[in-house]
Amino acid sequence: MSTPQPVRIGVVGAGLMGKELAGVVGRWATLTDSPVVPELTAVCDVVEAARDWFRRVPTVRTLTDDYRVLLERDDVDVLYLAVPHHLHQRLYLDAVEAGKDFLGEKPFGIDPQAAGAIAHRVGSSDVFVRCSSEMPFFPGAQRAIRMIASGALGRLVDAQFCFLHSSDLDVAKPANWKRQTATCGQIGVMGDLGMHVLHVPLRLGWQPMTVFAQLQDLVPVRPDGRGGMTACDTIDNAMLACRAVDDTGEFPLALATKRIAPGEMNTWSLRVMGMSGGVEFSTRNPQVLRVMAVVDGEQVWQEVQVGSQSSAPTVTGAIFEFGFADALLQMWASYLSERAGALGDGFGCVTPQEALASHLVFDAALRSSAEERAVAVPSSHGPLRRHGPDDVLGVIGR
Ligand SMILES: NC(=O)c1ccc[n+]([C@@H]2O[C@H](COP(=O)([O-])OP(=O)(O)OC[C@H]3O[C@@H](n4cnc5c(N)ncnc54)[C@H](O)[C@@H]3O)[C@@H](O)[C@H]2O)c1
Repeated sequence: MSTPQPVRIGVVGAGLMGKELAGVVGRWATLTDSPVVPELTAVCDVVEAARDWFRRVPTVRTLTDDYRVLLERDDVDVLYLAVPHHLHQRLYLDAVEAGKDFLGEKPFGIDPQAAGAIAHRVGSSDVFVRCSSEMPFFPGAQRAIRMIASGALGRLVDAQFCFLHSSDLDVAKPANWKRQTATCGQIGVMGDLGMHVLHVPLRLGWQPMTVFAQLQDLVPVRPDGRGGMTACDTIDNAMLACRAVDDTGEFPLALATKRIAPGEMNTWSLRVMGMSGGVEFSTRNPQVLRVMAVVDGEQVWQEVQVGSQSSAPTVTGAIFEFGFADALLQMWASYLSERAGALGDGFGCVTPQEALASHLVFDAALRSSAEERAVAVPSSHGPLRRHGPDDVLGVIGR
């Protein structure tokens, strides 16, 4: 392997996700054949305490409250943009204008107009841009994706993708920007969790054709953190019943995103069933991929222990368990490998077009809920890819 190339990263938005990047970069040496070596060099946040947190990272040379400083710096090759949703469009467009490659957080604009403007501008530039979505990098999900893409499940019967947590079950939890339309977007929880459940369907080519949505704002008022109460006008839970199609025919695609799913801490899951077999994976039980095959006319469920290895190989023992921080490491390995032209057949991060496609689904869901009927989703995507039939159990082997 040739010498890994240095990549200097700047963060805009040093909050929950911005800080995670420090952990990703710190663990980079565990990747066995990455073509790059990232270094965190610059951080921007409007809150001093958030910036100060990064003083523990010795490679950080620039701390600023103005992101334009990062756009101008020569020691920043790539940006991680992790700010509230109403700021995405301006920041992402400015980054493109400055010629900076970036991984932008979802939902990649507050609405379809913003996502469309960003995708269009990126498409007519030569910056390398992807949108964040890490959950499909769980090894069980990777194996499931390969199995589904192989066509081994036969004629698809139905599919469901869910992201469920209960961070808002506590009604005394103060509101923050994610609970308000002006900063999070009218799409609410779909903006928070929707890209996570659409990454895999869209990558498989399953652009929903219609959607019927049931949306809930379960806690419309919360403490404002200053002794008063404030309106929380975003959607907490969204259940989307979609019609999708692949080359085996039409099938129902169910998407669930919930901030209030009692009993769930942070569960991303998929279940895809076909006439020849089925597959289930949930991050609640990260070691186990469940596979159903029809064997001599019997429906046989098997559990495959998937271990730690995902898309990019690591030194981590193959038998060990995989978690959220590992998924983020894999997502960044994918982004930076693809940027270096070295992703090969590894799993790619969400493209700007896929982010836009997700917004078209969320926007249709809003219309569906308002009109209490199924509505068409405008198409933004090309045809799917399936790689020909294979034996269900054969495909899941690495
Ligand atoms: N991929 C994931 O799993 C995941 C998880 C959570 C959030 N997110 C996404 O990450 C993004 C940020 O979410 P978060 O949870 O980290 O939010 P956060 O509130 O924890 O952090 C956002 C930070 O942005 C800073 N900020 C606000 N305005 C700014 C400006 N003009 N310039 C610079 N900094 C500014 C805030 O001070 C704050 O520190 C959102 O797009 C969100 O949807 C992704």
